[in-house]
Amino acid sequence: MRIRHGLATLACTPLLLAAPALAQGDALKVGLMLPFTGTYAALGTAIENGFKLYIDEQGGKLGGRDIQYVKVDDESDPSKATDNVNRLIKRDNVDVLIGTVHSGVAMAMARAARQSNTLMIVPNAGADAVTGPLCAPNVFRSSFSNWQPAYAMGEVAARNGHKNAITITWKYAAGEESVNGFKEAFEKNGGKVVRELFVPFPNVEFQALLTEIAAARPDAVYTFFAGGGAVKFVRDYAAAGLKDSIPLYGAGFLTDGTLEAQGEAAQGLTTTLHYADGLDTARDNAFRSAYAKAFGMQPDVYAVQGYDAAQMLAVGLQAVAGDVTKKGEIAAAIRSATIDSPRGAFTVSRAHNPVQDIYLRKVEGTGNKVAGVAIKALADPARGCKM
Ligand code: PHB
Repeated sequence: MRIRHGLATLACTPLLLAAPALAQGDALKVGLMLPFTGTYAALGTAIENGFKLYIDEQGGKLGGRDIQYVKVDDESDPSKATDNVNRLIKRDNVDVLIGTVHSGVAMAMARAARQSNTLMIVPNAGADAVTGPLCAPNVFRSSFSNWQPAYAMGEVAARNGHKNAITITWKYAAGEESVNGFKEAFEKNGGKVVRELFVPFPNVEFQALLTEIAAARPDAVYTFFAGGGAVKFVRDYAAAGLKDSIPLYGAGFLTDGTLEAQGEAAQGLTTTLHYADGLDTARDNAFRSAYAKAFGMQPDVYAVQGYDAAQMLAVGLQAVAGDVTKKGEIAAAIRSATIDSPRGAFTVSRAHNPVQDIYLRKVEGTGNKVAGVAIKALADPARGCKM
């Protein structure tokens, strides 16, 4: 009886109830919501690797706190996205959300992050809306908007003298927005997009559409594909005999992290992206050798974006000594930071998207060799962002 009474008393002591206040010294819970299966699986792994590399370089701590990871495979499936992100926020009580690759999934995450005021950093997905109509004080991106590399390629294609183009991509936000960005710049500079072709995501049955392109004989083709789908598209384009007759241009995802599998079919392709091989800066060389040492392979753009998501988080947490409840101060610190990225230093726009150089790259062997800067310090227009 006395023991029972004692236990009940103990359970109610202020000492025990006060325990959550000590949580600040506990590990920071980072929700990593990424694709680990499907056409974007390799992209998710590269992002995780890059993120963890930076954390390891900081001795495993940010703002004085250890890091605990909670991982979710989002399968690049928008229909599961709201449930997945709410589990991380409500059940696992993560302090920060890092994710994801797929634009449709990322938009669901951004909505949930806004509603719950959870700090979120997008390490890939380019959905224009995330730093447009869905922009929020607590939502940041370490990667790009779909508009950015695409707009740069539209200028390049027009500059190369092409007058008309056909576009081909997956029918979802990333593909559609990439085509829109290309078209905006291409047409502003005298070109015309004469046909827009789509396949459902993540299908890779390209044959009928490649036959249609061959028959239409446009001056150029612009495309957005990535991951496993990009490997298949580039190989099919070459196998259809189009590579030497109709120049293929793409947002650089087309040939990033894919070149070993694409082989000969990718040689000479020109793309635009916010990262390239052979930048040969001290910062990038150090990053690349650390990444190669840790993971036994060369980094790609996704690894860089994961690494920089961790850098942005570090800036925010340092400013508040690890106290994630100080949301305003975290946001202010990231907004005013210059991120020392392997791609080149960048700052974020008022909508929290990187303002960055877009490189022109050309495939040589297993590298996307830098061939110049297509547009310097390009900022997404952030259409619809009210913040
Ligand atoms: C996207 O869905 O926004 C996306 C996916 C893969 C990429 C780039 C963008 O490589």
